[in-house]
Amino acid sequence: MTQIFAHRGYSAVFAENTMKAFIEAERAGSDGLELDVQLTKDGEVVVIHDEKVDRTTTGSGFVKDFTFQEIRKFNANKKGVKKEPIPSLIEVLEWMQSNHLVCNIELKNNLLPYQGMEEKVIQLVRKYNLSNRIIISSFNHYSIVLSYRTAPEIETAPLFNERIYMPWIYAQSIRAKGIHPKLVSITDDIIKDALVNGVAVRPYTVNKESDIKRLIKINCTALITDDPVTALKIKKQFEKRP
Ligand code: G3P
Ligand code: CA
Repeated sequence: MTQIFAHRGYSAVFAENTMKAFIEAERAGSDGLELDVQLTKDGEVVVIHDEKVDRTTTGSGFVKDFTFQEIRKFNANKKGVKKEPIPSLIEVLEWMQSNHLVCNIELKNNLLPYQGMEEKVIQLVRKYNLSNRIIISSFNHYSIVLSYRTAPEIETAPLFNERIYMPWIYAQSIRAKGIHPKLVSITDDIIKDALVNGVAVRPYTVNKESDIKRLIKINCTALITDDPVTALKIKKQFEKRP
């Protein structure tokens, strides 16, 4: 049955990429999480989508120009009441010791190179014994290959937003076990072919009920959604069917 991954946590309701959004996604019964990572000036892997802190926090400037101590002072729950700091990846991996979630770590290194990011992430994943519950994805496919070469035991998946011809062959060529396509860049037939060829498919970002139903119907590996509660409700309806 299709797994439900909470995109940036339960981001339809809670501030994206915060511990609160992750905890609520887990509480709702999600199978997995998707989160984004960047590097601070002093090399800490932090969970935030943009290269700059402006959109999602009370701060202003590039993540790469702040130390971890500095960046922690910003509030990533701008519209909420309670302050939520930008989480470190360590915080998330520590919390994952208390649950069974799968976590898709998206390396946000397609605009800024973030030298050494792959090694840092892999080192942490190994330290917390989570190699079999992590999927590393990125729009930077050189980084996907480097991740695979550094840690062949950790699953990788290229992200893409264009309609690639026979993407399962491309995935196999870079030793990725899955693909994470933008929903509009993939058809049911492409998904089915990828699955038949042993390549997992986890499209993003799937928020419309009709799309959720369609993907569950064809037994897509997983879907990445802002609203895991709605997706899980729909999934339950399918599970009840004889
Ligand atoms: O990993 C799927 C999706 O999160 C990729 O796009 O911009 O939401 O990080 P974006
Ligand atoms: Ca992402």
